[in-house]
Amino acid sequence: MVKICCIGAGYVGGPTMAVIALKCPDIEVAVVDISVPRINAWNSDQLPIYEPGLEDVVKQCRGKNLFFSTDVEKHVCEADIVFVSVNTPTKTRGLGAGKAADLTYWESAARMIADVSKSDKIVVEKSTVPVKTAEAIEKILTHNSKGINFQILSNPEFLAEGTAIEDLFKPDRVLIGGRETPEGQKAIKTLKDVYAHWVPEENIITTNLWSAELSKLAANAFLAQRISSVNAMSALCEATGANVTEVSYAIGKDTRIGSKFLNPSVGFGGSCFQKDILNLVYICECNGLPEVAEYWRQVIKINDYQKSRFVNRIVASMFNTVSNKKIAVLGFAFKKDTGDTRETPAIDVCKGLLGDKARLSIYDPQVTEDQIQRDLSMNKFDWDHPLHLQPMSPSTVKQVSVVWDAYVATKDAHGVCILTEWNEFKTLDYQKIYDNMQKPAFIFDGRNVVDAEKLREIGFIVYSIGKPLDAWLKDMPAVA
Ligand code: UDX
Repeated sequence: MVKICCIGAGYVGGPTMAVIALKCPDIEVAVVDISVPRINAWNSDQLPIYEPGLEDVVKQCRGKNLFFSTDVEKHVCEADIVFVSVNTPTKTRGLGAGKAADLTYWESAARMIADVSKSDKIVVEKSTVPVKTAEAIEKILTHNSKGINFQILSNPEFLAEGTAIEDLFKPDRVLIGGRETPEGQKAIKTLKDVYAHWVPEENIITTNLWSAELSKLAANAFLAQRISSVNAMSALCEATGANVTEVSYAIGKDTRIGSKFLNPSVGFGGSCFQKDILNLVYICECNGLPEVAEYWRQVIKINDYQKSRFVNRIVASMFNTVSNKKIAVLGFAFKKDTGDTRETPAIDVCKGLLGDKARLSIYDPQVTEDQIQRDLSMNKFDWDHPLHLQPMSPSTVKQVSVVWDAYVATKDAHGVCILTEWNEFKTLDYQKIYDNMQKPAFIFDGRNVVDAEKLREIGFIVYSIGKPLDAWLKDMPAVA
């Protein structure tokens, strides 16, 4: 029986291994992590992450061929294939701060693998890493190998949160990069055989190591670039009276462009896009390509611009001040169907509003109060982020309340901002919300989820990203 061990029981490691266990009953899969609460949660009825369909998959295999454990060394030692799916945050200090990936966790994982191994192993990079990381990892492993053969593969994961199980069941492609040596090719074949249990062969792409590593960064950069492109268009649409939804539809009909990922928003978030682009920018700079670096940096600049633009629009339309006004924030997660808040645009928007002394009442169906308070008080690395200035002072924190009901959040509010596209926000009783709000009552829809016309009939002043502005908003232009 092939044994797989995955170091890191996070958003990628957990669901990916659960699906491998489900689809490969002949393989034993152990997911290990040093965090005891995290592993306990994976072994309980309350999984540590919210992902549609995940619980079902875990329940079918847990205790049979899927195990969650903190005994990292034992499982690594026993495994034939070791996936490494640990955090690679952006460095906040030292060389490359704000751009380069922090490989501390990766390096210690590699040293530990070398230390505890007694048999040959295939080591698989699962977390997104800078190009040529595999080479560095290979060096650590071979210099500490004690005669053991380690083969390094890059097998980036393309799943998106909220649809992880669906994406893992039917991936557009599986990408495996390895050395072009006979041993490298043999390792590729071993991993390919795992995926071939359920992924059609023609969808399993094999490349060299660097192509696989770079493809992951490139895929995320292209996806983020599409969003920044449509968001840039949304600003132009508002200025000219065009409707961004119509523009997106019209251009998406061109099969060369395609219709997916053209939804305007208050900005993209999530753990990958910004981090991977910053990483790409750094790699370009290190390779003497400042023009290419600048090109990709613009994708993040537009994303930051979109968030500031949204805040400016709110403040400008409410008579240029939100000081002491209650603003309801509906949605805090970076997208619907996840409780994840990493890099969520809500953080910047809330900080921008708090900077103008608003009182915020925040509701998200999946994000806890603790998480929101932590996100808002954290001092983020200031990479050119106009809104990420200082950590919030205790008095600012008092301006934030987190509630468990959209109606409580909106009661007596002057304005409502929709920052995540949760389905339930489409069907709220907006008449009731309007009746309980201060007047004029504003809705700023950062995800274009509400029916603006219907809300206008109720009496709201509505701002929808990239849509023609109502007379009120036209009269109150946002000053940049
Ligand atoms: C992304 C990639 O899609 C995935 O392949 C990769 O493995 C990890 O990064 P994820 O971050 O989970 O996945 O979510 P995704 O659905 O890509 O959305 C990212 C952000 O872009 C979200 O904030 C989302 O709301 C936003 N978005 C997405 C838009 O603003 N408009 C769109 O049209 C699509």
